[in-house]
Amino acid sequence: MINMNLDQSVSINTNDLDWETSPKPNVLRKKLERALAEAGHATSIVQYKAGASFDPHTHPNGEEILVLEGVFSDENGDYGKGTYLRNPPGSTHKPFSNEGCILFVKLNQFSPSDLSRICIDTSNTAWLPGQGNLQVMPLHTFEDEHVALVKWPENEYFQPHTHFGGEEIYVISGEFIDEHGSYPAGTWLRNPHLSKHHPFVKEETIILVKVGHL
Ligand SMILES: [Fe+2]
Ligand SMILES: [Fe+2]
Repeated sequence: MINMNLDQSVSINTNDLDWETSPKPNVLRKKLERALAEAGHATSIVQYKAGASFDPHTHPNGEEILVLEGVFSDENGDYGKGTYLRNPPGSTHKPFSNEGCILFVKLNQFSPSDLSRICIDTSNTAWLPGQGNLQVMPLHTFEDEHVALVKWPENEYFQPHTHFGGEEIYVISGEFIDEHGSYPAGTWLRNPHLSKHHPFVKEETIILVKVGHL
């Protein structure tokens, strides 16, 4: 088990982790959360080398992906950098990557009734005004869970706040900061239910944020 005490805060700069092999040749990964060896709740950075493919598989409790680099593909389409995908519980596919890609992947963490397939090209979707000078791109909402991209302009401070249902962040670009530390691009953060912080940035920063699910 890796980082499966969801009551604990975790912050990992994924650039500091070494790539590990996976059951498939040419597919590498960095493990962030893992309940079981090759099943169940897992959060990872996954790299497909050019030409890599994975066996057809089913996602018993769903699969959520953000394409960080390159082009990810399956029999349903090609997904370039910035694509946000949700493959719902019970869905099946046979993924591959012709040119190679790097993905942020959350496996088997869906509510069983969250059955929508989502595919959003975030590089071609409008930002909406958020609190203060933030810009927000909503990606998914189901019951208490909300997923969005948030763009912070330089020197933006957010109000101190408490995370009801926790908060999970992947820093896509820039550097996210709070009173507990500084989190450069590539950092994954998980803060539990009722955790608090006072975040800010010095440079323009884009984060993937999921709240309400912990
Ligand atoms: Fe999959
Ligand atoms: Fe927060």
